[in-house]
Amino acid sequence: MIQFRAIWSIIKMFRHRYRKQLIVITGILIVYWMQSCFYREVDYIFVNKNTNQKCVIPNMDPLDKSILQFYLHLDPVKCEQTPDLVFVDSKGVLHVNQSAVADSGYRDVSCSFSVIKRLDDYEVKRETEVHFGKSAYVEADFFLVKCKDDEFRIVYEKLHHTIDYKSQMQHHKLLNDSKKHLNVYIVGMDSLSRLAAERTIPITLRYIEQDLGGYIMKGYTKVGVNTFPNLVSLLTGKVSYSNELPPHVEHLDPYPFIWKNFSNSGYATMFSEDLPDMGTFTYWKGFKDPPTMHYMRPFYVALDTFGLPNTKRAFLALENNNINLGRYSALCVKNTPKHHFYMNYYKQFIEFYGNKRKFALGWLNELTHEYDNLVQLADRDYMLFFKWLKESGRLDHSILILMSDHGIMQKAIKNTLAGRTENRMPIFAIVIPPHLKTKYPHIPRNLNTNTKRLTTVFDVHEMLVDILESDFQRSKNPVNELAKLPRGISLFREIPERRSCDDAAIPGDYCVCDSYEPMDAKSAISKDIGQFLVSHINQALSKHGDKCAILQLSEIKDSFFVKSNLQRRRENEEFTLRTLFRSDPDIKKYLNVFETRPGNALFEALVSTNDNGSYDVIGRINRVNKYGNQSWCIDEKFSKPLCFCI
Ligand SMILES: *[C@@H]1O[C@H](CO)[C@@H](O)[C@H](O)[C@H]1NC(C)=O
Ligand SMILES: *[C@@H]1O[C@H](CO)[C@@H](O)[C@H](O)[C@H]1NC(C)=O
Ligand SMILES: *[C@@H]1O[C@H](CO)[C@@H](O)[C@H](O)[C@H]1NC(C)=O
Ligand SMILES: *[C@@H]1O[C@H](CO)[C@@H](O)[C@H](O)[C@H]1NC(C)=O
Ligand SMILES: *[C@@H]1O[C@H](CO)[C@@H](O)[C@H](O)[C@H]1NC(C)=O
Repeated sequence: MIQFRAIWSIIKMFRHRYRKQLIVITGILIVYWMQSCFYREVDYIFVNKNTNQKCVIPNMDPLDKSILQFYLHLDPVKCEQTPDLVFVDSKGVLHVNQSAVADSGYRDVSCSFSVIKRLDDYEVKRETEVHFGKSAYVEADFFLVKCKDDEFRIVYEKLHHTIDYKSQMQHHKLLNDSKKHLNVYIVGMDSLSRLAAERTIPITLRYIEQDLGGYIMKGYTKVGVNTFPNLVSLLTGKVSYSNELPPHVEHLDPYPFIWKNFSNSGYATMFSEDLPDMGTFTYWKGFKDPPTMHYMRPFYVALDTFGLPNTKRAFLALENNNINLGRYSALCVKNTPKHHFYMNYYKQFIEFYGNKRKFALGWLNELTHEYDNLVQLADRDYMLFFKWLKESGRLDHSILILMSDHGIMQKAIKNTLAGRTENRMPIFAIVIPPHLKTKYPHIPRNLNTNTKRLTTVFDVHEMLVDILESDFQRSKNPVNELAKLPRGISLFREIPERRSCDDAAIPGDYCVCDSYEPMDAKSAISKDIGQFLVSHINQALSKHGDKCAILQLSEIKDSFFVKSNLQRRRENEEFTLRTLFRSDPDIKKYLNVFETRPGNALFEALVSTNDNGSYDVIGRINRVNKYGNQSWCIDEKFSKPLCFCI
């Protein structure tokens, strides 16, 4: 209405002088205003109304049509090709790279560093320049290096990082890691759902599952709207914005973050997060003192403060659509993709502390915070990072976690059927060391079971407590099924199937759980779905020529209506004309268990259907009984469970 009043007053002012022009302009403005009202996306509000029921975790297709339209394959990041003239070696010593200097053709190059000092979470300053000949150990994590040639021209200027472990070890008594005292490496990224991860970082996920034997939690659900509440609950086990935590009128230093406990138990600690203007904790009051021994924030603040990067943030939206206007990507600082700083700092932390106990939390924002495609540019780098960890034996005494806080927040995506669920279900993957699997067989067994159970950051916190206290036995005891379930249950312990969102402290706004309503297996619709599924199988098998028998439906064994408990709350939404004209597609889901002949195969599948009565398979058709030698003639992974060889 404000716009309208403004327009009206302009009209009154000018109406006598420019009558005709005014009519045209007013018309344009009104059309524009109507359009913007019509097209503006608002958050659809969906609330789960059955939060006290046993959770049926929604099974979604990562390539769901409603979401696939937003996905795009991007070209690799292109940065400047100039070499670094200095480097930090594996002991933390800064060197001038003589061969790089020789290659570059500069003469009599001399370099200096100035330490970046953190004043608080928002400001840094440069200390005086210190000239160094060939090498130096810098007693700080971040410093600006400048090199001049024989004519005193600056030929190199770049911000560098290291892990100043020597200074930390003078103040903290660090203990050795071991099979009992595990390192914790959490590799976090903002706004990445499990399904988005399957689309955008498939190389990394495959490496975690196949090479590292990791577990991916398929029922992992957020407990708060955005990063802050989810990370606070992960690190404290408490509910944020509640009186379980100190009021954060001042800094967050008094919060009982678990990294303090790790540090008190002889661990070196690190917290790194990029994109300082939207820091998880600094969006509030930030920290007075650095929260961990190594804290990367001043590095990123320095990058912004000293104008070193070409922060062409506006270009990122274009790059997210694979449009590259500049010669180099906006994701680069000179010759380095920004996420390399973060990963290299993480690696330095792990490398320099050697076999000392370590707790590290990294959180990468820039590639995922607002853009759904950019993160694929780091897929290979994440995989290489994990491969480096594995192949150097650094995972032998360590727990590795790849996680996010929630899915994409962009309204257009969030408002789709798939996006609604994705927003609430972030990626969570965990890798445990081999000896833990052999020594405590209940742990891999429970982790595997828990991949299909409802889980949250509260459970992860309990697991961190198990690791902190080196107690891998107590998770062997089952949870008391008769009592009220605890809010957090360590991921090492079996999480009961009956767990509801209420049990797990997931508010209705974020609870995604469906529920099953049994249907008559003999009903026309059940049979219809069965027929559709059998012809779907036959079609999938047709690519193998006449190797497989054409299957017939023999019986529907079980049939369920899969009820989505998420209900739209239009009355709580902002008003736009668009919502008046666009109705939600009415999509129903069914679960069908059926038998086919020949071969008496049992299959289970989820099907969706819309108003016009056409069906779609969600995910895959699963074979639920053994197929033994029935499909001897097929090797292909997806067809094998379906085929009855003739
Ligand atoms: C030193 O520079 C050379 C030439 O640019 C490069 O190949 C080499 O990797 C650099 N060494 C280190 C340790 O960075
Ligand atoms: C810790 O590890 C270092 C290096 O491997 C070793 O020299 C030292 O004896 C160990 N300390 C203890 C208490 O085991
Ligand atoms: C962590 O340390 C705090 C403060 O010392 C203590 O109150 C809390 O119980 C500790 N948490 C765990 C899990 O040991
Ligand atoms: C039914 O709806 C689906 C998906 O919305 C569409 O692909 C299909 O063409 C429609 N079929 C008919 C017969 O309208
Ligand atoms: C499976 O059956 C086929 C056809 O009867 C036979 O050729 C093959 O050797 C059998 N394979 C096994 C492992 O029994």
